Amino acid sequence: MYFLILLAMNAAHIETQIPPQLTEVEQSASHGADPGSFSQSDSLRFMSQFVEPLGASLDHSLPPSAERPIAEDELFIVDPLNPVDWKIQAYGYFVEEFPAVLGSDAAGIVEEVGAGVTSFVKGDKVFFQGWFDNRQGTFQQYAIVPAEITAKLPSNISLDEAASIPCGLATATVALYNQKGDKGTSVRLAAPWEEGGKGKYAGKPIFILGGASSVGQYVIQVAKLSGFSPIITTASLKNATLLTSLGATHVIDRNLSAEAARAEVAKVARAPVELVYDTISVPDTENLGYDVLAPGGHIVLTLPDQIDPAKKTPEKKIVNVFGNVHREDNRALGVSLYSKLTQLIEEGAIKPNHAEVLPNGLEGIIAGLDRLKNNQVSGTKLIARPQETV
Ligand SMILES: *[C@@H]1O[C@H](CO)[C@@H](O)[C@H](O)[C@H]1NC(C)=O
Ligand SMILES: *[C@@H]1O[C@H](CO)[C@@H](O)[C@H](O)[C@H]1NC(C)=O
Ligand SMILES: *[C@@H]1O[C@H](CO)[C@@H](O)[C@H](O)[C@H]1NC(C)=O
Repeated sequence: MYFLILLAMNAAHIETQIPPQLTEVEQSASHGADPGSFSQSDSLRFMSQFVEPLGASLDHSLPPSAERPIAEDELFIVDPLNPVDWKIQAYGYFVEEFPAVLGSDAAGIVEEVGAGVTSFVKGDKVFFQGWFDNRQGTFQQYAIVPAEITAKLPSNISLDEAASIPCGLATATVALYNQKGDKGTSVRLAAPWEEGGKGKYAGKPIFILGGASSVGQYVIQVAKLSGFSPIITTASLKNATLLTSLGATHVIDRNLSAEAARAEVAKVARAPVELVYDTISVPDTENLGYDVLAPGGHIVLTLPDQIDPAKKTPEKKIVNVFGNVHREDNRALGVSLYSKLTQLIEEGAIKPNHAEVLPNGLEGIIAGLDRLKNNQVSGTKLIARPQETV
């Protein structure tokens, strides 16, 4: 199984213990800022806080079937063929999405299907987003997921690539298209994979901060499906080719000054920018996004609001996303998305993040953190296999 699941189970605890480092990595990774004091020992401390609990529970044996009751609409998923081959996608998760996305990405093989499930059979390769609850407390060995928010592996991507999709795509789509829940959690646009949604927002500009992040890449792709144009994003210019291939029409250097970036957006937008999606959500990006946003529009934030209160106006609406399709408020959107997801990927409408597998298990993560610290990673999800640690 390809589990972020253990990581997810520890995520709440990471959230309370080490937000300062996360913020620092995020800033250095996203803005070319001086990485400052994020040292090797910080990296080790950072890793040990979530990896040790993982290592301690590396038990791949399955519970006997009598002890794994599943409801009639659920799937029991394992990877019986290669149980040590599971992965943690450390960076995309922590650096770009944390802690807005409390879910987990996973991919695996269906072992057992609930009595009422007709769309999957034992042996199907699938991917899905995780969730935390007591029933799923031994998630490192298996997962029980509702079939309605599980998708079959598309024919043209790997399990590694599939495992890069659920959290990032949920964060992109819940924020833009969810029709339920509080108003402050979604812009409530029509979803492009539903009847009448495709191309609906043609001619409207969107501004996406952090287009090369995992969430950013999915926001670009769904914005394209929705018809938004131009699709303007900030990123490292090295990733401009990737981002334009996904649908961005203009890539603005992420480390331009706020003033210069605003001028660039104004030059290409042609119409008032009524939708801004800030996938980075640090004070600099949030304030830039808010300044670019036209009255009457929405800005989506993936981390808490740090917009200067002095410039706030009720005319500009702030959306705080909780990017997990398990949540009751988000479930209907999730069911709709997962019913089309395999097809969207096979058609090339949604492409996974580029996935790079780091060598040497946990050691690889530390080297990877250094690359991140030195601002050498963007546009890519780094994946580590802790069990490959010697
Ligand atoms: C952008 O960031 C990179 C990497 O940190 C740096 O080398 C470069 O000088 C920055 N460019 C500008 C225009 O600030
Ligand atoms: C994105 O840019 C980084 C350098 O900042 C580069 O290493 C990486 O290969 C690029 N990714 C893609 C998919 O273009
Ligand atoms: C999957 O196939 C479609 C259709 O040929 C293609 O457009 C898309 O790029 C492919 N996706 C990947 C990730 O290879």
